[in-house]
Amino acid sequence: MIVDVVTLFPSMFEGVLGESILKRAQEQGLVRINLINLRDFSKDKHKKVDAPPYGGGPGMVIMADPVFAAMEYLRSNGREDSFLVLLTPGGVRYDQTLAQELSKQKGLILLCGHYEGFDERVSQGLSPLEVSIGDYVLTGGELPAMVLLDSVARLVPGVLGSKESLVQESFSSGTLEYPQYTRPPETRGMAVPPVLLSGDHEKVAQWRRDQAEEKTKARRPDLLGRVKKKKFRQT
Ligand code: 6GU
Repeated sequence: MIVDVVTLFPSMFEGVLGESILKRAQEQGLVRINLINLRDFSKDKHKKVDAPPYGGGPGMVIMADPVFAAMEYLRSNGREDSFLVLLTPGGVRYDQTLAQELSKQKGLILLCGHYEGFDERVSQGLSPLEVSIGDYVLTGGELPAMVLLDSVARLVPGVLGSKESLVQESFSSGTLEYPQYTRPPETRGMAVPPVLLSGDHEKVAQWRRDQAEEKTKARRPDLLGRVKKKKFRQT
């Protein structure tokens, strides 16, 4: 998979991309991540990419032309089939189902907003899938793009080793995960549930299912019996 990230702050990504699983995925050639500075596509001599909103009001709006120029550059450099995602608080809510859909793409282009957002003609002209990562306000689309990138990359075949396998996962299985324990069998007066030390695999599996269900009922009843909805379409 090749992911192009269009942003005004490419260096924000360096820490996240340079560690752990995302680093390894790139080293193994499973995911290629290409950071593109939107400022490089400004035609202004001061590299400006934003301007005050027509009609007045606070803040600055990202101009459409640098975004169109960046997209034309990408589309004419092997990214004609990449799926375009715009990160914005006004988008559809991101979830595991959408992560799974996006992980099937050969290429993604992640467009990170900032300030008071993009000129509406970016959406009009490019028909991106507009995505939000939740109901709270962030200063820009960079952290959301990293969240999306992390959650998608780990679903690309081969990225997770067998150690970090994908089976039995919260959200895709419809329940939260059961509690885990490791050595020692007792600490600070707290013991590991005896069933886990019993060696009875059938009983262990049943205990885990019960625990997962109980925890989900208590914390996230909305996840139980949920019908999965598709929100994935690009025209
Ligand atoms: Cl995608 N962008 C911003 N600025 N804030 C957000 C968001 C995105 N998703 C949740 N909050």
